[in-house]
Amino acid sequence: MKVITLLNEKGGVGKTTLATHIAAGLAIRGQRVVLIDSDPQGHATVVCGLPKEPGIYNLLVRDAPFNDTMRLVPPEQYQMPNEPLTGQLFVVPSNIESRNIANSISDAFAVSDRLEELKEFIDYVVIDTSPTPSLLHGSIYLATDYIIYPTKCEYLSFDGLVESIKHREAAQLNRDKWNLGPIEVMGIVPTMYRNQTIEHSENLKELRQQFGKLVWPPIHQRTIWAEAVTMRQPVFAIAPQTKAAAEALALVDRVLGAAVHV
Ligand SMILES: Nc1ncnc2c1ncn2[C@@H]1O[C@H](COP(=O)(O)OP(=O)(O)O)[C@@H](O)[C@H]1O
Ligand SMILES: [Mg+2]
Repeated sequence: MKVITLLNEKGGVGKTTLATHIAAGLAIRGQRVVLIDSDPQGHATVVCGLPKEPGIYNLLVRDAPFNDTMRLVPPEQYQMPNEPLTGQLFVVPSNIESRNIANSISDAFAVSDRLEELKEFIDYVVIDTSPTPSLLHGSIYLATDYIIYPTKCEYLSFDGLVESIKHREAAQLNRDKWNLGPIEVMGIVPTMYRNQTIEHSENLKELRQQFGKLVWPPIHQRTIWAEAVTMRQPVFAIAPQTKAAAEALALVDRVLGAAVHV
């Protein structure tokens, strides 16, 4: 089982969009996936067509069983038309109560310990996070194998990225104490990219200069992504033939390829 966490301390950069599409895409590729929504806004929950509820709160604070907190997403919600589905997608939902998790858990290993229970049944855990750092993020870092950083090619998103990287480095010191090994940065994914703007192409160049091959191909800005949110379905399901769906599936395949190497 691999745990992949989406992070960037700037809001609105595409964390939830990528988390939900990576999770659904991995299920389309035959994997058994749990998407954990750890953001009090509960947007990952909502875009998967589920009601907001305190799933992650109950799991971590009330020690509720996964059977009571995890919801199965019906395959017709996300699968590609006329394609057989072999994987499964579950969501641990969130709501405003997630704000209180950080004050209510005393054990930094709360997330790791609960995820251990899934090891036999699940191939990938994908964690969507809130932009505001908290002690919950600390617990998530201890449970994470790989980080994906979505970023817009704009100054403030880069600032969020730099802050996130600083926090990962601090979290790594904590992991070192427990001999947990390094968290691997799987990739930095430029999102909402417009290549006809000089600002975006210059900033992408800068990102590549700084981070080299860690910078993955950009996901372009397209209106279908907003429509997918309105329909509570991923682009794979509502527009499988579009460039947006092709870019999202290429991203999923890259995740599958990268996760094999460790
Ligand atoms: N490639 C894209 N093109 C156009 N809009 C996008 C794209 N990716 C994300 N969005 C939109 O941008 C908004 C913010 O994305 P979201 O994933 O919620 O960011 P975050 O979780 O980092 O706050 C959402 O309304 C989403 O639909
Ligand atoms: Mg979000």
